[in-house]
Amino acid sequence: MRAWLDGCDRSHWCDGSHWCDGSHWCDGSHWCDGSHWCDGSHWCDGRDRLDGRDGRERVDRGCARSDGRIRLRLAAHEVMTYGSAGRWGGQLTARPLPEADAELEALDDSQREELVAVWLGRAASERRVADAFEVIRAALADLRAPDELIALATRGVDDEYRHEELSRQVASRFAGRELEPPPRLTLVVPDHPGADGELLHTLHVLGHCAMNETFASAFLETSLTFARAPLARVAVLELLSDEIDHARLGWAHLSTLDDARRRGVAPWITSMVKANLKMWRDTPRPYSTDPLVHRHGAPPAAAVEAALTGAVADLMIPGLERFGLPTASLRAWLADGAPTD
Ligand SMILES: [Fe+2]
Ligand SMILES: [Fe+2]
Repeated sequence: MRAWLDGCDRSHWCDGSHWCDGSHWCDGSHWCDGSHWCDGSHWCDGRDRLDGRDGRERVDRGCARSDGRIRLRLAAHEVMTYGSAGRWGGQLTARPLPEADAELEALDDSQREELVAVWLGRAASERRVADAFEVIRAALADLRAPDELIALATRGVDDEYRHEELSRQVASRFAGRELEPPPRLTLVVPDHPGADGELLHTLHVLGHCAMNETFASAFLETSLTFARAPLARVAVLELLSDEIDHARLGWAHLSTLDDARRRGVAPWITSMVKANLKMWRDTPRPYSTDPLVHRHGAPPAAAVEAALTGAVADLMIPGLERFGLPTASLRAWLADGAPTD
């Protein structure tokens, strides 16, 4: 799994030419239930939905805390869907989705229902990640990050809109009818109390890209090992091919930090990884015990857990060490079973 980290120095990580063979992994398909986000150290949705018949209306609001600070910062922007400036010039996917899928056609109604829930939930989550990338793009611009990183964050917004629509289309295939986009999930940006300015921007980039998108990539890589049915396999590959780039953006940003800035980041890393893993574990994701359902992009719970802890062991810890950050406490926590309760 470590191979794709090799592309994370600034010299060559962003050309998209050396990782996308489909053999490794994201989806951003995380949602949290709003019951555990309040340490402000990870990205979640608070489970609240915005008004609007189609869930696409944008609003900008925050919740004032008793100390007068804004607790929830909700990303808002005007982009409504993916566009011609995106990775595939306005096309939804790099390759067409298969029109024929005999495995899908053979599913019974309850199996289809399970898969509609999985893929429509994914669509909602992907839409929220587009909002997260708006925050990342703004953070990188404020940090005067290299142009290629800002460009990738800009592409990331479009990518996540494509992922939303791709997931909606897949859900519709299982439903046997065209489904509406799911209601919009609200993005909650971690406030990392005690961090502000440049450090806060960097924590946001690392938390979303190097951590959340890395977990998402591990999740999708595992999804791919189970996804043998034609439509799901192509769809998961499409998601995965973008999400690895999104994770790399975080690692590439880390590679640009000087020693002083890395020392500033170091005390935050362990708690952020723990909070991010907790979010992934606590997500009320529908898990099926039906092997036939697993073949359509819905991996079983045990495989997902192994993928998540594997991402800490095989990707995050090596990545952090590669860029000079201490990992002893992360290693000890992982050796103890990576508890998040
Ligand atoms: Fe995504
Ligand atoms: Fe992503």
